[in-house]
Amino acid sequence: MNFYEMILSRRTIRRFHPKPIPPQELEWLVDAARLAPSAANRQPCEFILVDEDEKKERLFPLLKWAAYIDPLGTPKEAERPAAYIVVLVNRQKTPDVGAHDAAAAVMNIIYAGMAFNLGACWMGAIDRAGIKQLFGIPEHCDVDSVVALGYPAESPVAEPMKDSVKYWKDFSDVLHVPKRSLADVLHRNRY
Ligand SMILES: Cc1cc2nc3c(=O)[nH]c(=O)nc-3n(C[C@H](O)[C@H](O)[C@H](O)COP(=O)(O)O)c2cc1C
Repeated sequence: MNFYEMILSRRTIRRFHPKPIPPQELEWLVDAARLAPSAANRQPCEFILVDEDEKKERLFPLLKWAAYIDPLGTPKEAERPAAYIVVLVNRQKTPDVGAHDAAAAVMNIIYAGMAFNLGACWMGAIDRAGIKQLFGIPEHCDVDSVVALGYPAESPVAEPMKDSVKYWKDFSDVLHVPKRSLADVLHRNRY
């Protein structure tokens, strides 16, 4: 699969095989994040790798999964992520929000993960205060988001959007993700 095909085929994964991710590969994902584009090259992002059982257990209830289909999108006990990367913005490194930098870093993590056959869920509906406390994150660092990672145990499909943006599950437990058409989003030379 070439890189463009990877981009087209990527889907958010919320069910995982209970198989650990080699620690070296997790580090490579953070290394990919480190090299992402950054406004004024300030590089405000820092990352916490979470692969210890106790920490994963305590992080899980601080995350909200697939709100449109709650509780169907929440991974069952045996399908939980193998690891997480908590994405931080160090406020001492940038005067702005840092959200664009964090987003670029997250996408590097997600696509680098695909190179190692990993699926990912980018999570923004998270208990930031709880996460700060759990990991002892200092005051000057904001929690941007969490990336949940593991070997995919589902194969969601993208489909043309009709009247709703809400993803849904069919009777075979397959997640369908409506996407706006190219014609709907593409403007040529004027709006
Ligand atoms: C900034 C951001 C925050 C997100 N937060 C969550 C989240 O908290 N929980 C969740 O289950 N999915 C979350 N998602 C995943 C989206 O639901 C998902 O990207 C969307 O449904 C489209 O599906 P796709 O990624 O397969 O194209 C988030 C995605 C983005 C970009």
